[in-house]
Amino acid sequence: MSKRDFLSVTDLSRHEIDDLLELSARAKGKRPGQVLAGKTLGLLFFEPSLRTRVSFEVAMVQLGGHCINLSRDDLYELEPQEQAIMDGAAEEHVKDAARTLSRYVDALGIRAASRTGSWDKDRQELLVRSYAKHASVPVINLETCVEHPCQAIADLLTMRENLISLKGRKLTLTWCTHPEPKPLGATHSVLTLAAMMGMDVTLAHPLGFEVDDAVMQKSKAMASESGGSVRVINDPIEAAKGAEVIYARSWASIRHWEDGERQAMIKRSLQHWRVDSTLMGTTKNAFLMQPLPVRRNVVATDEVLDGPRSLIYEQAANRTHVQKALLMQLLK
Ligand code: CP
Repeated sequence: MSKRDFLSVTDLSRHEIDDLLELSARAKGKRPGQVLAGKTLGLLFFEPSLRTRVSFEVAMVQLGGHCINLSRDDLYELEPQEQAIMDGAAEEHVKDAARTLSRYVDALGIRAASRTGSWDKDRQELLVRSYAKHASVPVINLETCVEHPCQAIADLLTMRENLISLKGRKLTLTWCTHPEPKPLGATHSVLTLAAMMGMDVTLAHPLGFEVDDAVMQKSKAMASESGGSVRVINDPIEAAKGAEVIYARSWASIRHWEDGERQAMIKRSLQHWRVDSTLMGTTKNAFLMQPLPVRRNVVATDEVLDGPRSLIYEQAANRTHVQKALLMQLLK
């Protein structure tokens, strides 16, 4: 049987996402038991993580399996290019690491979200896709510059729990200022998935912080199929008007991808792009979502993060339940 990877929210059909949400809700209500007894999940983190790492470990333990964690410091420098002449810093080819790990573990989760070069290069997700190509076990994307599908599915479950239905509901996904240029993974995955589910999505960002054009086109196509909509507004307050969910997220400028200093300079005039009670006051009593970690009082104020409409910890909690459902689907 061929293995199945989960690298992008578009790896699943609308029908499969509905099934995954149902299974997640069931796994949350009642523990599924030791269905993955004896199974091992290998987790490779090339960047730090609190939620993704812990929620996957807890998910595997609750299903009777266990995890092996490796960080950048545990691994040889890897070469992802095919037919590379490896006379540089890379000690091991991804092909060899992936084929070896496939002999030890039953699935692999990989986070590789650092900016490594041009956007054209980073958008290819070379490391994760190279692992997926060469591993004989399922590979799960734990966040790249382009996608963070496990986060987005957990966010969808959180929205569904609080809005009851998703079709036609108004989500504003808003850019927020941040001292660091952050990856676009969560933004892209939430945008695409919300469009697929028929939500009316407003993407709010300053000029110069457009999302990847292919992701935008795909999201618009999915919205027109599902009866949803996607629009872009370049003003945070205007974009928040009438929203039922405000999703706060920071992301780097693709236009200035290679120039961190230029991004920092541009952001000096964008400090008002943060979620506070004034912005929340223009919404339709919206829920606040943010995938964490969050720079408090930069991205969003303490008042709204700790307020009664905040779902930030529900989102984090749902990571475990969605990942249990995903692991059961991929390893059954
Ligand atoms: N939201 C999220 O992926 O959190 P971590 O970076 O802590 O894993």
